[in-house]
Amino acid sequence: MKKNLYREFKNLFNKDAENAWFSPGRVNLIGEHIDYNGGLVMPCAITFGTYVVAATNDDGMFRFRSLNFEDKLDISLQQDYKKTGESWFNYPLGIINYFLKDGHQLQGLDLLYYGDIPISSGLSSSASIEVVTAYALNDLFNCGYSKLDLVKLGKEVENVFIGVNCGIMDQFAVAFGEKDKALMLNCDTLEYKAVDSNLGEHVLAIINTNKPRKLAESKYNERVQECQAALKALQQELNIQNLCDIDSTALKRYQHLIKDEVVLKRARHVIEENDRVKLAAEALASSNLAEFGRLMYASHNSLKNLYEVSGEELDAIVEYSKIDPNVAGARMTGAGFGGCAIALVKESAFDNFSKAVAAYYTDKIGYAPSVYSSLIGDGVGLLKEVVGNL
Ligand code: GLA
Repeated sequence: MKKNLYREFKNLFNKDAENAWFSPGRVNLIGEHIDYNGGLVMPCAITFGTYVVAATNDDGMFRFRSLNFEDKLDISLQQDYKKTGESWFNYPLGIINYFLKDGHQLQGLDLLYYGDIPISSGLSSSASIEVVTAYALNDLFNCGYSKLDLVKLGKEVENVFIGVNCGIMDQFAVAFGEKDKALMLNCDTLEYKAVDSNLGEHVLAIINTNKPRKLAESKYNERVQECQAALKALQQELNIQNLCDIDSTALKRYQHLIKDEVVLKRARHVIEENDRVKLAAEALASSNLAEFGRLMYASHNSLKNLYEVSGEELDAIVEYSKIDPNVAGARMTGAGFGGCAIALVKESAFDNFSKAVAAYYTDKIGYAPSVYSSLIGDGVGLLKEVVGNL
């Protein structure tokens, strides 16, 4: 982190901060558009994230400041907030709203945020700011929520206050992530295992398309509805609660129930992707990176052709990866419609990969991507415990 947030806080608010917290962003190794269908996902927390420093005040005001954005908000402590415009502070405001609705007595707060997750890159900057705010409030006001409560609260804010019908993967990953581990999360039961992200001689590359995401939220909500339509059609004969309650063999038997061709394509993606996550977990456990990579490519293909959430930018990165012998596998990660792709790249060849994928992409798309070598880090916590002292 390049900023001394305590000093910046003091400059802005003329007093010392009480404490600082950090929440990471996340990538998802495999299991895309699965969480809101009750299946298996495999995300990891990354070392990019959101920092917040805060102190209570006695004048009953919430003051939100960010080192990333000019817009700021000063708002008095009241009972019911509403989302206003598209500003970043809606996320923390939504969290505060839920603490208040839950009956917690809060005091005014001065808050300063800083994030190093590339904005709108599909690396969960919104889950990160939600979870870090919830975690800080819980600490500052001794509200007694468990980490899982905070995850659920973050998702609720995203669904109701912000209006995106996301699943629970992002909030869960940024809260429960562990250094050098991937989380095998069952999004129905919320049981999870932290498994070694045993990438052998490979590192995880994150390639940001730098494509401004447009209509992503409405398209995302449209996919959620299509999945609900598929589930409803299957429920005519099957006693299931989630699309991921069946596997691809069962889908073949019952697919005649889904009359709409588009809806059937969406259901096929979800159910086959869920099967792929099970295979990917076995591949990772036996350090079979070639098989893991094959499943990543298959996942991307399905997101492109069946779920239709990729795009020429993400496809260009995957196309390049396929011709580079030092890449085991690649796919888009997160919701899609722009954002980031990930690739498993031989560590010794990372610099070459980085240059070559950027050249290929720029030639095809007309502007450059950003390429990072990601470190898999810890989930939310006090800054000094997760990142170290400033
Ligand atoms: C976004 C959502 C998640 C998940 C992914 C797709 O990141 O916030 O809940 O649905 O898309 O896997």
